[in-house]
Amino acid sequence: MTKKTILITGATDGIGKDAAFRLAKLGHEVLPHGRSETKLKSLCAELEAITGANVLSFRADLSETKAVRSLVDEVKERAPKLDVLLNNAGVFATSKPKTEEGLDVRFAVNTIAPFMLTEGLSDHLHQEARIVNISSAAQARVDPSALFAAPRLSDGAAYAQSKLALMMWTNRLASLESGQRLYVSVNPASMLGTKMVKDAFGVNGGDIGVGGDILCRAAVSDEFAGKQGAYYDNDAKAFGPPHEDALDTQRCSEILESLRSGLARLAQ
Ligand SMILES: NC(=O)c1ccc[n+]([C@@H]2O[C@H](COP(=O)([O-])OP(=O)(O)OC[C@H]3O[C@@H](n4cnc5c(N)ncnc54)[C@H](OP(=O)(O)O)[C@@H]3O)[C@@H](O)[C@H]2O)c1
Repeated sequence: MTKKTILITGATDGIGKDAAFRLAKLGHEVLPHGRSETKLKSLCAELEAITGANVLSFRADLSETKAVRSLVDEVKERAPKLDVLLNNAGVFATSKPKTEEGLDVRFAVNTIAPFMLTEGLSDHLHQEARIVNISSAAQARVDPSALFAAPRLSDGAAYAQSKLALMMWTNRLASLESGQRLYVSVNPASMLGTKMVKDAFGVNGGDIGVGGDILCRAAVSDEFAGKQGAYYDNDAKAFGPPHEDALDTQRCSEILESLRSGLARLAQ
């Protein structure tokens, strides 16, 4: 096994945390990201007990583009080059749908932050790096004007649009890739028993390990090698077709352009 350096966002809970443990146990260098200092500290202690080495961690609230920019700078400054960027952090139901910058938090955390990390860390990713973006079975046609707007959709609609938008920019970057970087999207399986599912649906949900396992495989296993732009649907346990819009080059380009122009406006 070649040891990989893997940045995992949202590693302080749920599927991301499960994947962090699995990858650390396989001998990879896991760099966990979280937003809570307390949760990060206790996660690092648990990871250090597995690896016997110091764990480098990163804290940032991904709902704020300023904080994401600082995170990019901090990773470039403190971390070794990355073999895998696992964009896992996500949000569904919330009592605070509007971010400080006035955006819908689902688009901010699920679509915009992973895009900023992927673009911002481009020089800090190895030539053969994998960018693994955690999507969902919930995918709905994206209204590009909602990406940088105040919340106006239901939790379910905002979430499903944010997850399809994530897959659409992923696929566009995959099709523009002339080198060996790999861009993939993964539905980790539906209704796994994480905080997100318990809070949103009031059910216990399924085995979180099912999600952790597929994140881990997408990050390092050969079964994902060469699967440029693919979507792995862990409900079907197979690579499969995403929502038709994720295969529509024109629509995917529009999402990419909307992200670039929206971020440029916000930065002014
Ligand atoms: N569970 C499922 O059945 C399911 C199904 C399909 C897709 N997914 C996707 O799987 C991914 C992981 O979700 P999960 O189910 O494991 O949920 P979770 O247990 O709620 O974990 C979400 C992670 O994201 C972090 N996060 C949320 N908002 C953030 C913010 N503003 N800034 C920084 N970090 C933030 C959380 O931090 P804290 O620890 O501080 O809360 C946590 O570490 C998400 O992208 C989700 O959409 C899950």
